Amino acid sequence: MTRVLAWIWLVCAAALSVAGTERKPNVLMFLADDLGIGDIGCYGNTTIRTPNIDRLASEGVRLTHHLAASAMCTPSRAALLTGRYPVRYGLEEGPEGYLLPVILHITSQSGLPADETTIASALTAANYTTGLVGKWHLGMNCTLFGRSCPGPLNYGFQSFYGIPVTLFQEFRGSHVFWKFPLHDRRFQGLAMAWMTAVVSLFLASRRKVLGYCTGVLLLLATHLILGVFWFIFAHSSMNSDCRWGVSAWLFRYANSRLFRGDQVVEAPIQLDGLSQRLVEESRRFLEAHAYDKTPFFLMHSFGHVHTPMFSAPHMAGRSKHGRYGDNVEEMDESVGKVLATLAELGLEDNTIVYFTSDQGGHLEAVEDNGERIGGHNGRFKGGKRQGGSEGGIRVPGIFRWPGHIPSGVTLDTPTSLMDLLPTLLSLAGLPQLHTLVPRAMGKELDGEDISEVLLKGAKGARTPRLFLHHCGMSLHAVRMDTGDHVYKMHLAKPKWWKGSTQCGWHHTTACDCHGANVTDLSSQPELYDLLSDPYEDYPPISPDSSEYKSVVHDLKDYVKQWRKGVTLPPSQLSTMANGLWKPFYQPHCLTC
Ligand SMILES: *[C@@H]1O[C@H](CO)[C@@H](O)[C@H](O)[C@H]1NC(C)=O
Ligand SMILES: *[C@@H]1O[C@H](CO)[C@@H](O)[C@H](O)[C@H]1NC(C)=O
Ligand SMILES: *[C@@H]1O[C@H](CO)[C@@H](O)[C@H](O)[C@H]1NC(C)=O
Ligand SMILES: *[C@@H]1O[C@H](CO)[C@@H](O)[C@H](O)[C@H]1NC(C)=O
Repeated sequence: MTRVLAWIWLVCAAALSVAGTERKPNVLMFLADDLGIGDIGCYGNTTIRTPNIDRLASEGVRLTHHLAASAMCTPSRAALLTGRYPVRYGLEEGPEGYLLPVILHITSQSGLPADETTIASALTAANYTTGLVGKWHLGMNCTLFGRSCPGPLNYGFQSFYGIPVTLFQEFRGSHVFWKFPLHDRRFQGLAMAWMTAVVSLFLASRRKVLGYCTGVLLLLATHLILGVFWFIFAHSSMNSDCRWGVSAWLFRYANSRLFRGDQVVEAPIQLDGLSQRLVEESRRFLEAHAYDKTPFFLMHSFGHVHTPMFSAPHMAGRSKHGRYGDNVEEMDESVGKVLATLAELGLEDNTIVYFTSDQGGHLEAVEDNGERIGGHNGRFKGGKRQGGSEGGIRVPGIFRWPGHIPSGVTLDTPTSLMDLLPTLLSLAGLPQLHTLVPRAMGKELDGEDISEVLLKGAKGARTPRLFLHHCGMSLHAVRMDTGDHVYKMHLAKPKWWKGSTQCGWHHTTACDCHGANVTDLSSQPELYDLLSDPYEDYPPISPDSSEYKSVVHDLKDYVKQWRKGVTLPPSQLSTMANGLWKPFYQPHCLTC
């Protein structure tokens, strides 16, 4: 009897230990920047070449109704990583103040609050090795004199190599440092002051009023003081909107810095070859952790296809769509190279791969010479910085996990980038977030676990699901998926330029979220059914119909209840603290 019991015990122990050592699936996530849903082949673009992303889609599930929580980088990325609406923690543009929709400088102290839980911190709690390669844009939290800027390391990423804020158009080329615009009255004043000082010092020393040494010291002191004024006038001043801004030169100097861990390792960032360096870094990460006992989570967050445009020589001029097209194709090439390494290491079967973009293409983006450098959102209307417009938030979404997630399946179930956190935990067979990370208790998730939909490759029975679409802190639209209908109610819409779905033509412009350039529809919202009219091409559902009355009533009610249940903090982005460059937090490169 005891023998039998001992035997049973042994068998059970062995089974348990095998189960215990079975490695959870790895996670590899690709996040493109400003890539429109109409920019890639498998979403209907017939003239661009994105064979690697297309292949990924053919080997997994392609989501055609996948929604970003915001149409701007900082809020959308925050939502993706936390599974929560960015308005809950102030990472959206406020209706007044600086009107900044994103984190502006490395030295900004705005950022994702430390008590939010990200995918990386959840997976770290589950013993994953985590790494971020590429763009961050959720706050660097530098200490005094920039001695350490932990950024992503504060949020569960164990390693970081990449871009602390984002790429900006100013990063390309050099900008003038020595500026003396003598038509500017401030510079005229400086020139007068300089001449007066030099002449009077000269005369004073000639007449022996001053000793030689005192004269030289006073001359140096004058130059120092005038130099400081010159620097402030030339590189940091109030712009026409009465906001402090920095010159292109200073902006590039302060922000074009590449990080490894919490330190700057390259300044300014060498854009040529940047994509390839990021790929090399991700490959090294995969090689280093391929055969660890514990699984890994790697987030490869592209600098592409955000402005400025740059590509390696072998990609330049290759596409049919100018430099923007070259950037898309180079990004696709990067996807292919990282996936090839995954395959070479034999990790394909045990790695969940996810591909998405943080928001839709930037329709207004044209270079000073008129060349288009923004993305294409297919037939969807609107784009970047239009949180309620379909083109701003409908992004590609691809999941691949061979043997688990079916291949070649297309799903039109409305899903959100915020679903990633709960879905990954579920796919990996991990406990729910609040069990895994007890401090996340009390922080409501807005994303849902869509693992069943992915694993079955089918819609399944749908309970009505609601999505809020904020543009900055303003609620612009609400969506409801009932299974038979996908209603979208617009509460506000940007005033588009006639005949277009955008608000101007320049890489520094985009539509507003609040104010006079937005039409308020809250007294009579526009209602569409996206199942019958996916591109909102036809007139909205008539307000006289009973369908309109009941749906709008329900949606308004939902919004009212939601608002009652949350206390929203003020915006962290539309503040002077985010807009000002703070030299005393500026990190420097000690080795480059
Ligand atoms: C493909 O993408 C390019 C680049 O954004 C765009 O200019 C073009 O219109 C797209 N073509 C189609 C057929 O969608
Ligand atoms: C930033 O750093 C300070 C200490 O230097 C810390 O108290 C704070 O929680 C950090 N903030 C974030 C968002 O990590
Ligand atoms: C992580 O590792 C620790 C120590 O080995 C273990 O106790 C814990 O159960 C692991 N957590 C998960 C979620 O696997
Ligand atoms: C509306 O947009 C125009 C140009 O796009 C801009 O000059 C103006 O300041 C905006 N008005 C407000 C109130 O924001």
